[in-house]
Amino acid sequence: MTEKGHLPVLPSQVLEFIDPGRDGLYVDCTLGLAGHALAILGANPRARLVGLDRDALSLEAARDRLRRHAGRVTLYHADFKDLPSLDIPFDRVRGVLGDFGLSSFQLDAPERGFSFTREGPLDMRMDLRSKTTAAKILNTYPEGKLADVLARYGELSQTRRLAREIAHLRKLGRLETTSDLRVLLERFYRWRPQKGRIHPAAKAFQALRIEVNRELEGLDEFIEAVVRRVGPGTRLVFISFHSLEDRLVKRAFLRLAATAGGASPRLRVLTRKPVMAGEEEVAANSRARSAKLRAAETV
Ligand SMILES: C[S@@+](CC[C@H](N)C(=O)[O-])C[C@H]1O[C@@H](n2cnc3c(N)ncnc32)[C@H](O)[C@@H]1O
Repeated sequence: MTEKGHLPVLPSQVLEFIDPGRDGLYVDCTLGLAGHALAILGANPRARLVGLDRDALSLEAARDRLRRHAGRVTLYHADFKDLPSLDIPFDRVRGVLGDFGLSSFQLDAPERGFSFTREGPLDMRMDLRSKTTAAKILNTYPEGKLADVLARYGELSQTRRLAREIAHLRKLGRLETTSDLRVLLERFYRWRPQKGRIHPAAKAFQALRIEVNRELEGLDEFIEAVVRRVGPGTRLVFISFHSLEDRLVKRAFLRLAATAGGASPRLRVLTRKPVMAGEEEVAANSRARSAKLRAAETV
């Protein structure tokens, strides 16, 4: 998908839960190409927006798309896990949105190395200031650690044997590009396209991307810290694309909503089950297929 064709996932559900009609500040932790941010700003001319992205290139594209609202927007090139330490008026925050993972802007740029269908370096960094690339992981991780990453984040099978194969190829200097890795995976898993089967490279690329960007680290602490900073009535809306990520959100919400031992709850969960895209949205936007939205409100 091109930048022009970028579609935010679950757009009406995000608006329903973030409830942008209330005046105040809305924080988009994962601004991307500002699809959701534009919808929030469009829904209420008095709403203000703080947007964060760890990808400086994406942030500049978003700045451009948001220029007609520039007076009510503040952007940060930052990891959203640093949000609690930013100097913003947390008592005025009415909604916090996180739409985790990758955007089409990133996936479609061959030089970023996120897509196994495009020839490029094995980079996969969202923040180009960070030092660890996918090539570095593939070429330096001990076999056992590599096998664990591929199994845990990519749900691939036979990852011990796969890691051994990778260790063999890297000695020969043959693991540098996205197609080096794709070809290895296709051979290793004897890949034949079949309806309903996920390409093994899709799984391996996802695993490496999660490891490169440490996507699951500190997510629960982040949610707890945000809840401590904002006032009551703030909506939290998080969209996950991986079951481990969704589980972290679900557990953090349940912990903060718990009343066990006489504790007063900090959150009210608004989605008993995760909200998912309907068939029509999935047909128009394949990224929506695995999206799971959970929402809660601070009390
Ligand atoms: C799925 S896209 C968001 C799309 C956006 N909601 C829209 O409608 O255009 C995810 C974005 O979040 C950014 N991102 C991912 N993890 C991040 C993090 N920990 N901190 C800040 N930005 C992050 C990515 O760089 C990417 O641009």
